[in-house]
Amino acid sequence: MPNHGGSNFVDAEINGESCSSPRETSLISVFKYAGLILPRFCFHNNLAVAGNCRACLLEVVSIEKPVAACVTDLE
Ligand code: FES
Repeated sequence: MPNHGGSNFVDAEINGESCSSPRETSLISVFKYAGLILPRFCFHNNLAVAGNCRACLLEVVSIEKPVAACVTDLE
């Protein structure tokens, strides 16, 4: 996930499509901005993030193990 030379936005690629999102945005929110709704059980915008159910697990190219999208920020 390259950055924009010190800006607060980060480039990412979701299923082959490029997108840009503010740094430190949760991956579940990045997907939402890209028009993709991930499965979720324990995540709600108005509640503290628990990250327990694992329904939102994603494979990220630069990370060895699957990550929970609701507790992992785009950096
Ligand atoms: S929605 Fe439950 S771990 Fe992400």
